[in-house]
Amino acid sequence: MKGTHALLRHPVFAWLGFRPVLGQHTAAEHSALSKWATGRSSLVEIGVAEGASAVALREAMSAEGTLWLIDPFHLSRERWFNATKRAAHRAVEGCRNGRVIWIEKFSSVAVDDWKGPIDFLFIDGDHSETGIQQDWDKWHRFVVSGGVVVFHDAATFPGGWTREDWGPVRLVDQLFREQALPGWRIAQQVYSLVVVERLPEGSQL
Ligand SMILES: C[S@@+](CC[C@H](N)C(=O)[O-])C[C@H]1O[C@@H](n2cnc3c(N)ncnc32)[C@H](O)[C@@H]1O
Repeated sequence: MKGTHALLRHPVFAWLGFRPVLGQHTAAEHSALSKWATGRSSLVEIGVAEGASAVALREAMSAEGTLWLIDPFHLSRERWFNATKRAAHRAVEGCRNGRVIWIEKFSSVAVDDWKGPIDFLFIDGDHSETGIQQDWDKWHRFVVSGGVVVFHDAATFPGGWTREDWGPVRLVDQLFREQALPGWRIAQQVYSLVVVERLPEGSQL
């Protein structure tokens, strides 16, 4: 999108197909998302925006799998039209792999009806300290052993955009860096993206 006129940043242009959807992550983070989603069968993304990461997940997941996309799309300036939501649907439906279920709710509400196991959970919704803590507290229990939770904007790095006091950075620090939460390990970190894996029960690091 570098060099693209600022006007074209409006999501309506992605919906119309005049530009690709705007990813809110780097190319290396995108590759890491694809790698960890490969072959997974029960994937959940919290925070979809225009759908760039959702497309990466859909392309990589198992053809027999299901991807649940959770976003209330409440930030659109034109709520009646909601170009962000339309752009996301257009992008995600451009790939036919697997099955996709949209949940147009806040993650804290969506979890009330959640029952099944998850083998890939991407948390990229509410970045406030309370919001990210709530997503972790309410969702991680559904992640199976060998499954992963991926946090975006959760690490600082030289020249990066994140800060020590950002909600995801603080949460990942507290849970996995200052202590090692039993049963979990940091499996990969790419720029601001942190992948944590649930270990099989009883396993020692
Ligand atoms: C950073 S963007 C997501 C970017 C997207 N994952 C990508 O990489 O292309 C954050 C999105 O989270 C959504 N969001 C904010 N709070 C949320 C919540 N509590 N539950 C679900 N989605 C939320 C916003 O509507 C917004 O679309």
